Amino acid sequence: MKKNKISRKEFIERTSKVVGATVLCPTILAVLQSCDSNPVSSSQDGLISTCPYHGAQFDVDGNPLQGPASTPLASYDYEFNQQDNTILIEGTLTVDVSDLSVEAAKALSGSEAGDVDNKGLLIYRKTESDFNVLSRECTHSFAVVDPLQ
Ligand code: FES
Repeated sequence: MKKNKISRKEFIERTSKVVGATVLCPTILAVLQSCDSNPVSSSQDGLISTCPYHGAQFDVDGNPLQGPASTPLASYDYEFNQQDNTILIEGTLTVDVSDLSVEAAKALSGSEAGDVDNKGLLIYRKTESDFNVLSRECTHSFAVVDPLQ
C-alpha cells in the first residue's frame, strides 16, 4: 500500500487554510448577520419609518438608520400658516396640521399627496412652527416607506 507523504511546506499550507477558515468564518457570519437583523427600535430611539421591502429604516429627518438604503429621503419646502394651522407644501398642497402635536408625525398616501409626491409624504412636527416634510419613496429601490412610528 502506498502512503501519501506530504512535504512540510505542503502541510503548513493545508493546515493554515483550515485555521484561517476557522477564524474567519465566525467573523464573516457575524458581519452578515448584522446586515439583516437588529432593526432600530422606535420605542428606544424616537419615531422611525421602515421600508417594508428590504427593511431600511429612516429617522424623523429622513436619514437612513439602517440599510440597505444609504441616502436620505427627499424633503420638500413648505410654508407654515399659523392662523390656519396649515402648511403649504411646494406651493401646491395645503395640509391641515392642527391635529399634529409637537414631536408627532402623520403620513399622507400617494393619492393625498399626488401633486407633490405620488408615493406619499411623511410630515413630522419638530416644534410649533417647524416641520420635516419627507417623501415616502424609499431611496433604496423606490418602495413606499411606512408611516413614522
Ligand atoms: S429597503 Fe429596499 S426598497 Fe426600501
